[in-house]
Amino acid sequence: MHRRLPFLIFLYNLLSITQAQLDVPGVRLNRSSLLRTFTPGSCSDGTGRTSVCSSCSSQSLCFGGNAIAEVPCPGSNPYCNPGSVETSCSSSPAAGCGSTGSQVNAIVCPALGVLPDPSNCNVYHVCRNLQQNSDVYQCPPGYHFNLTTKWCRSDQVDQCVRITCGTTSGFVYYGNSRQYFALCVVANGVTTPYIFKCPDRSTFSVNTNSCVYQCAGQGNFVNSNDPSSFYQCYLANGSYVVTLQRCPTGTVFNESLQYCS
Ligand SMILES: *[C@@H]1O[C@H](CO)[C@@H](O)[C@H](O)[C@H]1NC(C)=O
Ligand SMILES: *[C@@H]1O[C@H](CO)[C@@H](O)[C@H](O)[C@H]1NC(C)=O
Ligand SMILES: *[C@@H]1O[C@H](CO)[C@@H](O)[C@H](O)[C@H]1NC(C)=O
Ligand SMILES: *[C@@H]1O[C@H](CO)[C@@H](O)[C@H](O)[C@H]1NC(C)=O
Repeated sequence: MHRRLPFLIFLYNLLSITQAQLDVPGVRLNRSSLLRTFTPGSCSDGTGRTSVCSSCSSQSLCFGGNAIAEVPCPGSNPYCNPGSVETSCSSSPAAGCGSTGSQVNAIVCPALGVLPDPSNCNVYHVCRNLQQNSDVYQCPPGYHFNLTTKWCRSDQVDQCVRITCGTTSGFVYYGNSRQYFALCVVANGVTTPYIFKCPDRSTFSVNTNSCVYQCAGQGNFVNSNDPSSFYQCYLANGSYVVTLQRCPTGTVFNESLQYCS
């Protein structure tokens, strides 16, 4: 019986080494590999376009440099094709809009930090600026993004999380996470998931379709999604009241100072 112990320890070490070696960081995709990706058009780009592709499958109508309406492409011609003046809907995808889930697109950052890709497990996003395009990181072939480690893990160890959208538009959780979630937009037979993240210490509620913040105590706490805002927590009648407050423009909330600087 005791002779087995060294073997089990050896096996345990082997397993832990293997596990460690199977988690690797991804590499940032450079500009030339991202050139083939879809970039949403902007009505305010100064070119006077009458419409732009706001996603692979929808158009924004422009008036006076502003987007005034969002029009999804019909199921028969589901793909928006950008033109020099106006867009058209066709059956062939524009650059970066493959019909498979394998396209590599930057996302418009809804939060700071690391976010999974909503449709491609092999890549993930690093968001350094809100509402700007993400930096796209790609895992080696046969690896997928793991949200816990924020690294790439071999498909041989476990499987990637896939977002399963319903038949109608709505919110779904990202795997077992209650902090990360996706908005599935179903329009004319085309389903597009968009990934989101609740700030740290909050969870997404499918009842209210919003992030619910849990106060750690009384005081002010930075909003990890957007440090130019913070949560104010105080006790009223024995339970916490939480409100989201915004810092003056150009400042971020500093938790140790307890003010925006
Ligand atoms: C960008 O990535 C592509 C594909 O991985 C590679 O062939 C190319 O040499 C890279 N370019 C630069 C400037 O790193
Ligand atoms: C991600 O990694 C963690 C920590 O190793 C593990 O517990 C979890 O199961 C992994 N997630 C998935 C979806 O495999
Ligand atoms: C405080 O709690 C008591 C007992 O639950 C309730 O009667 C009262 O209305 C509450 N006061 C406020 C301001 O919510
Ligand atoms: C908060 O302020 C302290 C004291 O000025 C400073 O050392 C620290 O770097 C600041 N933290 C952030 C996140 O700005």
